[in-house]
Amino acid sequence: MLSSYLLPALALMSTARAKPRPVRDLPPAFFLAGDSTTAPDGGWGDAFVASLTGRSTGTNFGHSGATTSSFRSGGDWDELLTAVESHKDKYRPIVTIQFGHNDQKTEEGLAVFVENLVQFDEDVRAAGGEPIFLTSLSRRNYLDDGTVKQDLGNVVNLTIEAAEQTGARWANLNEASREYLNAIGEEDAMTYNLSEDDHTHLNDAGGVVFAGVVAQLLKGLEPSFDPYIEVDAELVAALEAGEYYYPA
Ligand SMILES: *[C@@H]1O[C@H](CO)[C@@H](O)[C@H](O)[C@H]1NC(C)=O
Ligand SMILES: *[C@@H]1O[C@H](CO)[C@@H](O)[C@H](O)[C@H]1NC(C)=O
Repeated sequence: MLSSYLLPALALMSTARAKPRPVRDLPPAFFLAGDSTTAPDGGWGDAFVASLTGRSTGTNFGHSGATTSSFRSGGDWDELLTAVESHKDKYRPIVTIQFGHNDQKTEEGLAVFVENLVQFDEDVRAAGGEPIFLTSLSRRNYLDDGTVKQDLGNVVNLTIEAAEQTGARWANLNEASREYLNAIGEEDAMTYNLSEDDHTHLNDAGGVVFAGVVAQLLKGLEPSFDPYIEVDAELVAALEAGEYYYPA
């Protein structure tokens, strides 16, 4: 009979033989959860997925009009978790979670916002993924003083609160997008409007610009993402300098 002190040593040997790939070596797969500011036709998500290089992959699950509650009840969340599970052997599933615009429209929505985000975090981890919270993309509504109106402060703060409760990583997309909009000014910012009188949603050019903002934030959280997300060098330079950029 083996003495018990040998067992850990044997366990080590079998681990060495099997040489499991360290999780960090797997390419990331990005699954995006969010509202219309992430969704196709108005958000940054499709441009972000398009910027993924061949070795990584991703899906934009953003849904126009979604709250953290409707995203679950409408079935989007289950689809996303299924994608996490089916990719976890070959990829590192990363789930970005960006809500708030619609949750803050009702008292009821605000009341369940943090608990819904915390539940998203638990579900992602249970499915084998890593959650990253993003605060709500800023709207392009300028005040008379030429700065962007901050009307998302409540959901921004609650998103950070949820991330702190769960220990998940988070990035302040609201602050980064607002700073860029303040830097370039109203006239240039309006060229990213989805349509006249829609200052919340993004046209294709705006999608590219704000996908670049998200990419830079994610690379800031984890530099190892760099080879997997390709952002035009001119856009990176413009974002860093706070200068206007319009994709060719
Ligand atoms: C959000 O948090 C910041 C920093 O703590 C605070 O200054 C701000 O008043 C808060 N905003 C809202 C709407 O709660
Ligand atoms: C964005 O909104 C402004 C103000 O309503 C408008 O003048 C401009 O034409 C819009 N931009 C686009 C690309 O639709």
